Amino acid sequence: MITNRKIPSTKINPTRGGIMKKTILALLTLTLLALGCGENKSDSPAGTSGKEKLAQKFGLTLFEYENGVGPIKEKIQLGEIDQIKAKTGEKLFTEKCTQCHKLDELYTGPALRDVTTRRTPEFILNQILNPEEMTKKHPEAKKLLAAYATQMTFQNVTVDDAKAILEYLRSVNK
Ligand code: HEC
Repeated sequence: MITNRKIPSTKINPTRGGIMKKTILALLTLTLLALGCGENKSDSPAGTSGKEKLAQKFGLTLFEYENGVGPIKEKIQLGEIDQIKAKTGEKLFTEKCTQCHKLDELYTGPALRDVTTRRTPEFILNQILNPEEMTKKHPEAKKLLAAYATQMTFQNVTVDDAKAILEYLRSVNK
């Protein structure tokens, strides 16, 4: 009789779903581990570039060697110059920096008009935010300290202030 026929269940077995989830998680973990190991490999001496070796010589990471030592620990995104921010930066620069820096003359510190050509944005931010550690640890800042025989001091600026000053320095570099 037709009524005795078993109709196959279409319900998803909950235990099977659980196993699937676990398998996917396990696979994800393995993938992440594999990626992690890959990264470690590029740190090994065999893959070390000349610049990395130089950085190591100074006890710095490659990032620190190129971008300074301080609170800015990764590359920042810069777009077109933000003129409003640059105006704020100009005001801050006049208040807090011009007693030691001019744009075009050597003064107590180096001339800064072309500093955005000489240094990375992150290097400039770290120098503004962390000048004392910079002259202790970074070879370029050390050289400047030796040349100018003055230690730049922290001017009580926030990261946003420093970024506004950076915008101003970008705007004057023509
Ligand atoms: C007390 C004087 C003094 C003040 C104030 C000062 N600086 Fe400096 N700055 C220096 C000196 C000197 C150096 C060279 C490094 C050193 O000896 O610390 C320097 C280095 C720098 C550098 C690195 C230049 C390069 O070629 O790498 C930047 C950028 C800079 N200053 C920006 C600023 C900004 C922006 C301000 C204001 C927030 C400021 N400084 C305030 C004296 C000063």
